[in-house]
Amino acid sequence: MGDSKKLPLYERFALELESQILAGTFPVGERIPSIRETSIQREISFSTVVHAYELLENRGLIEARPQSGYYVKSRARTRAPEPDFSSFQGDPTHVSIDDVSEQLVQDTLKPEFAQFGAALPDPALLPTARLNRILAELAREGGFPDSIIGAPEGREELRIQVAQRAFTHGCDLPPDKIVITAGCTEALCLCLQALCEPGDLVAIESPTYFGILMALEAQHLRALEIPTHPGRGMSLDALKFAVDNHPVKAVVAMTNFSNPTGSLMDDESKYALVAFLEGRGIPLIEDDINGELHFSDRRPRVAKSFDESGNVLLCSSWAKDISSGYRIGWVAPGRYFTKVRRLKYALNVRTSVLPQLTIARFLESGGYDQHLRKIRRAYAQKMSELAQSVSTHFPEGTRVTEPSGGFVLWVQLPGGLDSMRLYREALKAFITIAPGYVFSPSHKFNDYIRLNAAWWSQRSEADLIRLSQVVKGLLGTS
Ligand SMILES: Cc1ncc(COP(=O)(O)O)c(C=O)c1O
Repeated sequence: MGDSKKLPLYERFALELESQILAGTFPVGERIPSIRETSIQREISFSTVVHAYELLENRGLIEARPQSGYYVKSRARTRAPEPDFSSFQGDPTHVSIDDVSEQLVQDTLKPEFAQFGAALPDPALLPTARLNRILAELAREGGFPDSIIGAPEGREELRIQVAQRAFTHGCDLPPDKIVITAGCTEALCLCLQALCEPGDLVAIESPTYFGILMALEAQHLRALEIPTHPGRGMSLDALKFAVDNHPVKAVVAMTNFSNPTGSLMDDESKYALVAFLEGRGIPLIEDDINGELHFSDRRPRVAKSFDESGNVLLCSSWAKDISSGYRIGWVAPGRYFTKVRRLKYALNVRTSVLPQLTIARFLESGGYDQHLRKIRRAYAQKMSELAQSVSTHFPEGTRVTEPSGGFVLWVQLPGGLDSMRLYREALKAFITIAPGYVFSPSHKFNDYIRLNAAWWSQRSEADLIRLSQVVKGLLGTS
């Protein structure tokens, strides 16, 4: 330690804290004192503490959790580094999806397969028994008389629940400005249809959820891929450049725990995104399906909460936390409400009523927050174990994201390995994965895979090791 005196103050402080962590003063999972607190108590500058914490973060000892602070990380094994920013794809792309995206969902129907493919929640973490009881209750109370069919915007009970929940996280969404949809997919499709004509250009994150690409293709829309950081989300600079050079009609962004990277945009970026698009008169379609699945204490805000003019169309559903099978979602389409409601009516009149009532009653009954706390803990744990396992077993050069919510992990394979080859070979080994190929219309993430952590269990480690062997076999390093 004699030499450490020559080190800059921040490094000396980092060393001191490191030794406290290693000595167990701050055990794994413990929150370390906040930057402000430390700066005051130790009488060192704010930036010195920031530098020291960044150093420890880079050394893999602590991790920042958005809006929550720094925590001591598990030191059992070192994590693989994060992938880089995606590169700029200069030209608009016609979207043409092949069968692989659909095949991913078909793969989940094979119980004999180890499931790392489709981004479906763990069935054991869904409140299915309670939903069943509520359904039975509703049936006893008179079931499904045609007199309760309701308006195209959906049942008021459910819209009130959406509005109340939005209010708790700083978003003003009156119930009469919400349309209940058949899942988040229909919400996204209705928004695209309300905003665009065939041939129009839509700016999307790169990589993006393949369901969004399917929606673009179905409506004959073109995509402009905007570089997106796997941790921090869409690059606003790149978006500005794109908008200056192309006639972008709408932007689609998953601001909270995107699929496939798990990226989270911070509040400043959300605000800047909303302000910029408002200034340019370009609407933002925000997909917040994973927003409730945060691992830190505070739910991240939606970009919509910064929207004062109705330029943001917020879409979500309960597919990730309550039921994907009920197919119930919603959209708050801002100033496009009337158009979206009309399209909803034209498409399928209204969303099936009994599932709407069941979810509304589940939410009204008050157990939702407790349920969410349980599944957030479970997914944080599963995600951490899967990421550690990939870091440990996959070959050198593998890169892995570190999402702070959701349940998917984005993995860059070493040696530019073709994810479609890996997908096919993994199937032969009874393992499903989502190849990076399907997350971009230009297929530029072909050396990536998305792994679903939701179905991770104790016996998954053996499956992951088998997958790593397939990877090594294809790389010729086994
Ligand atoms: C980001 C994202 N948006 C939308 C959807 C589709 O949601 P739903 O099943 O409610 O249509 C998914 C499903 O995986 C998703 O990951």
